[in-house]
Amino acid sequence: MRRSKGVTSATLSDLVRLPPDEMELLPRGWQILGTIILVSIPDALRDHANAIGDALLTMYPRCDTVLWKRGVAGRFREPVCEVIAGKDETETVHKENGCRFKLDTARIMFSQGNLAERTRMSKICANRDEVVLDMFAGIGYFSIQIAVHSRPRKIVAIELNPVAYRYLVENIKINRVEDIVLPVEGDCVTESPQRTADRVIMGYLDSSREQLISGLLAAKSGGVMHYHEATPTVLTYQRPIRRIKDAAEACGRSVGILGCRTIKKYAPGVLHVVVDVSVDE
Ligand SMILES: C[S@@+](CC[C@H](N)C(=O)[O-])C[C@H]1O[C@@H](n2cnc3c(N)ncnc32)[C@H](O)[C@@H]1O
Repeated sequence: MRRSKGVTSATLSDLVRLPPDEMELLPRGWQILGTIILVSIPDALRDHANAIGDALLTMYPRCDTVLWKRGVAGRFREPVCEVIAGKDETETVHKENGCRFKLDTARIMFSQGNLAERTRMSKICANRDEVVLDMFAGIGYFSIQIAVHSRPRKIVAIELNPVAYRYLVENIKINRVEDIVLPVEGDCVTESPQRTADRVIMGYLDSSREQLISGLLAAKSGGVMHYHEATPTVLTYQRPIRRIKDAAEACGRSVGILGCRTIKKYAPGVLHVVVDVSVDE
């Protein structure tokens, strides 16, 4: 039954036996971060959560812990979750695209739906002289990948949540990019340097108008901004473009839309989108 790479050939429905109507509800997907498995389980299966967790550990013998992921909450977008199987240890090191990310999976989110965008950003810098501002750096999702794969002159990585900031600092060391990434603990509205960035990343889905204005003011003339938003499907891409243009008018910058893309479905009727924008005087 055991295959190579620490995965067995058994499926969840081989390992968890339930009445047919409940079998239908078994999760069909889960996320693996380092040695931690994160799974969403319908409330109707709450009494079987531990059995589902144990089965997942059987399927992935290299994993240690299973977390029942119930959602994400608050301005720090912290996971709401509980351990349902294995060890109580929720800190791990996750490898992605040649980078290593240490995080506490019970306290910090790591969206698998953003993988393609993180990979795109990792090679985005047009030249090695770029200065990048990552306004919502988290544990370094974008900053670390850009530093490792694009090696620009400097990346200023701002993070407000002290827990995420601690991991950001550690991840900069683990990936040996201390010479490139400057971590800053604080609010991006007050900490963003003005008119210094060739590239500004606003990787937060719920940015305020004030934050958008700070991002536009942080860009050099001729700079580029990557603005993320959770947008109702019917307003894709007109709402984020309207917000960018309104904010630009309010702070006296001129903007051009370079491209728009959908990153993932965020919630029913809501998409996670990113708009690439050129910023000038
Ligand atoms: C969750 S990350 C975005 C996810 C990431 N782009 C990815 O690929 O998975 C957003 C981060 O912005 C941080 N944040 C929220 N408000 C902030 C602010 N005003 N200034 C700086 N960081 C902030 C949150 O603490 C969080 O760590």
